[in-house]
Amino acid sequence: MSERVRVMLSEEEVDRRIQEIGEQISKDYAGKQVHLVCVLKGGSFFMCELAKRITVPVSLDFMSVSSYGSETKSSGVVRIVKDLDEPLKDKDVLVVEDIVDSGRTLSYLMDMLKDRGPKSLRLCTLLDKPDRRVVDVNVDYTGFRIPDEFVVGYGLDYDQKYRNLPYIGVVELD
Ligand code: IMP
Ligand code: MG
Repeated sequence: MSERVRVMLSEEEVDRRIQEIGEQISKDYAGKQVHLVCVLKGGSFFMCELAKRITVPVSLDFMSVSSYGSETKSSGVVRIVKDLDEPLKDKDVLVVEDIVDSGRTLSYLMDMLKDRGPKSLRLCTLLDKPDRRVVDVNVDYTGFRIPDEFVVGYGLDYDQKYRNLPYIGVVELD
């Protein structure tokens, strides 16, 4: 069986949208410093592109989580594989993710980060699959709402592959 990737959102479309979100964030955080928290590995490509387009001062931190449960169905209980280097206390924190799917991971993560006492806490995701939502998550910035299809590229993987694609695609098997 061979795999092909069909383009869902082109590199130009994604770039244009990230520019818009960057401008919006720069307006919303005027006079502040925004502390971006990247959820590895998926959020890394989006965060770098977004950070370059934000014009207010930016600081960055990274965390890696893994959800208990099977590969295809996250349980919502999140294990921290790599924690943040710095405390969030009194910072204006913006979590940057690749995709919100069932919402289980993000809902758990946002609650956990809130307990660390940030001045503000918001969520920015490149992609959102609202049809798949099981747990309510408040998303402040969304790149694209997409249908319920398994997507790759821009940090998203299929079996650890395709993260480096500069566009969002759907893997087709034939
Ligand atoms: P959930 O919102 O807790 O269901 O899980 C979200 C996580 O599942 C994301 O951070 C991704 O790592 C992964 N995920 C969900 N949908 C996709 C997809 O379409 N392609 C690749 N990874 C996905
Ligand atoms: Mg992820």
